[in-house]
Amino acid sequence: MNSIIIDAPATDEKRRELLYRGQLLVYSPTRSSLALVEFARKMAEEAFHPHDPETAQYHVPVERYAAILAEMKPKFIHAPESKKCIQGMLREIGADAEKTYFDVPRMRTSTSDDYLTSGIAYAFHPHRDTWYSAPMCQINWWMPIYPIVAENAMAFHPRYWSKAVRNGSAGYNYDEWNRTSRHNAAQFVKQDTRVQPKPEEPMELDPQIRVIAPPGGILLFSAAQMHSSVPNNSGRTRFSIDFRTVNIDDVAARRGAPNVDSACTGTTMGDYLRGSDLAHISQEYFSSYQAQPPIRKAEEFEAAASVHAS
Ligand SMILES: [Fe+2]
Repeated sequence: MNSIIIDAPATDEKRRELLYRGQLLVYSPTRSSLALVEFARKMAEEAFHPHDPETAQYHVPVERYAAILAEMKPKFIHAPESKKCIQGMLREIGADAEKTYFDVPRMRTSTSDDYLTSGIAYAFHPHRDTWYSAPMCQINWWMPIYPIVAENAMAFHPRYWSKAVRNGSAGYNYDEWNRTSRHNAAQFVKQDTRVQPKPEEPMELDPQIRVIAPPGGILLFSAAQMHSSVPNNSGRTRFSIDFRTVNIDDVAARRGAPNVDSACTGTTMGDYLRGSDLAHISQEYFSSYQAQPPIRKAEEFEAAASVHAS
């Protein structure tokens, strides 16, 4: 990985290729991304009323705060307005709605000064989403709801794009997680005891990259990127939205980022909805993605890709 490309005038195919090679893409806010941000703000402002959502953590006891999030976040995820906005974003960015599948958007919060960093507001340790059963062709979309600064953003750790880290992904199965751990996040206020895939060796998190886009600005990155929540000491809670997409041609052809160290089982393939009509991905693909592809060195992947291109 070596580039952050702003408003790339690329086709969707070219864009996916850049992402699978580890580049980061940033797009200026679109009409629909701004509508989604506006919808999220309204919801947060109502939920935390009479407090400002970004500073409510300084006025509300933490158990109450977790309860507010536990009520608000699922409402946001399942709102038909959220899906409509994503469909609009796909259109505006030039992704084919017949071939692009998305999962429901999540609203995330990163509170300041270690106020609440577990359960419903989990502060993510360095990880790849592919450790959590995402396919190698998954693309993550991320945008701030309120202005962010480097002290409450998220960070990428580029040295690990092609470098493996010993990790616990072999013990992670997405179906198992859904059955046992997903739905009780709000109960973990002080400490999070859910077993998650984590690095199992010391990591060098610097150099790191923090992309600061305006509210509604869209950051696209491969699910294979190593990333983490930065320790928030900005004095404001960060609110952000993320969702993921896969392109069905890439699913079929098994194109995607190199798998350098993910060994999880299960697949998130059942979560994605077609951009045009919200249909699910076929059972056939779901079944064939129950295991990650074999772990390969990123250099081997690059060599195979260039043979293919020539
Ligand atoms: Fe992630």
